[in-house]
Amino acid sequence: MSEDNPRAVLLTGANGGVGLAATHALAERGFRVYAAVRGQAGELPRHPNVRVVRLDVTDPVSVADAVEQVRADGVSSLHGLVNNAGIIVQGPLELVPEEELRRQFDVNVFGPAAVTQAFLPLLRAGRGRVVNVTATTARVAGPFFGPISASKAALQSLSDAQRLELAHWGMPVVVIELGMIDTPIFAKAAAATAKTAEAQTPQQAALYRAQLEAVDAAMAKAKAASPGIVADAVVKALTAGRPKPRYTVGPDTRMLGLLARLPLRTRDRLLARVMGLAKVPLAR
Ligand SMILES: NC(=O)c1ccc[n+]([C@@H]2O[C@H](COP(=O)([O-])OP(=O)(O)OC[C@H]3O[C@@H](n4cnc5c(N)ncnc54)[C@H](OP(=O)(O)O)[C@@H]3O)[C@@H](O)[C@H]2O)c1
Repeated sequence: MSEDNPRAVLLTGANGGVGLAATHALAERGFRVYAAVRGQAGELPRHPNVRVVRLDVTDPVSVADAVEQVRADGVSSLHGLVNNAGIIVQGPLELVPEEELRRQFDVNVFGPAAVTQAFLPLLRAGRGRVVNVTATTARVAGPFFGPISASKAALQSLSDAQRLELAHWGMPVVVIELGMIDTPIFAKAAAATAKTAEAQTPQQAALYRAQLEAVDAAMAKAKAASPGIVADAVVKALTAGRPKPRYTVGPDTRMLGLLARLPLRTRDRLLARVMGLAKVPLAR
């Protein structure tokens, strides 16, 4: 990578917790980072290697426009695309409104699929790589995390298929599978859940109250890792001569990985215990 011709990478959700850390790490290593944000640039580093691009991954016009913004900056090839933007939709599946489930898939699945399609010509020109940020919950869906888990499982599947498809051009597709990372995503999800709950009847709200309280208490004890370790994995995925198809990041990913391999009944029993559900009296 020369100073005059730095390798260019586009990263979505650049002003989020993981996005900021990754943008900073890549810029520091001499990449030109097209830091894609949906709204305000926020705390994005004022670094000569960082260029802000407007991009809402759910809006086809915005996606096409982002490609033009990058081309207009003189870029004819990309070294990498990091599909990092994402949201969490959570709650009992019985009560998650359909539009919320669709929003989950729009942002976490159809969004990255569309962004990848749109940037593939630039990526192919640079024999670039696609890096998709997923979650270990894709392999172990926990109670009340059905929407987010399903969306990341879908993104994982798309990545697996595309890895084989793009191998023809020597273009790696890498998944970075995260455990729990300390970012604003949980506060945003809680706010969205509270808003959704306003439309519930008192009877609906009472249905899962005890279970949700138990899971909240269990989750409050969980330790989230620093976004810096994700940034390190993004750098590895973009710099390794032969990147791994999957990087798992976070101390809890090991336990979740082991759970994923257990017979389902055993896994359910353990998960119910870990998530506090085993203590909740059965409904009569
Ligand atoms: N934190 C974790 O524990 C964890 C665990 C597993 C996987 N992940 C994944 O890690 C990735 C980064 O999440 P994070 O933890 O850094 O969360 P975050 O701080 O909330 O950042 C998410 C980013 O995605 C952006 N975004 C949301 N909707 C978008 C849209 N329609 N178009 C473009 N950008 C959009 C957000 O922009 P706004 O600020 O405008 O909303 C924000 O910049 C996500 O894919 C997430 O699913 C996180």
